[in-house]
Amino acid sequence: MAGVNDFNSMCAECHTAPGRVPSPLARGLNPPAPDLAEEALEESPETLFWVTKNGIRMTGMPAWGASHSDEDIWPVIAFLQVLPDLDGIAYQELLEEAKGMGHHAH
Ligand code: HEC
Repeated sequence: MAGVNDFNSMCAECHTAPGRVPSPLARGLNPPAPDLAEEALEESPETLFWVTKNGIRMTGMPAWGASHSDEDIWPVIAFLQVLPDLDGIAYQELLEEAKGMGHHAH
């Protein structure tokens, strides 16, 4: 539940989210940010964590480990495991339920 808030704050701008159209920022990324709903099915949680923590050189993918502890990053990776099952409505509902949870809670 914490992870959905953190995903929405930290990742959705570039990677978009279920039911959303790509943001102006996302449309300008080259290389583009992939759909994490698809990547989550192909990569192990360990790999997703490593990439999220360390970023990808020479691309727009930031190293979140520069500003976030491992404990802050893992909930987002846990959320990526359910992301492929969510449509726009389910995503919005989960965000409502998760209000106040996660380090980006608001
Ligand atoms: C400023 C834009 C931006 C933000 C914010 C961002 N990413 Fe990315 N991300 C990218 C781009 C661009 C790539 C593709 C890089 C490439 O082509 O190698 C990427 C790639 C990735 C990949 C590798 C996918 C694969 O298998 O190729 C993962 C995993 C990932 N991002 C996770 C995250 C997570 C989790 C967050 C939030 C905590 C996040 N990203 C936030 C831009 C962003």
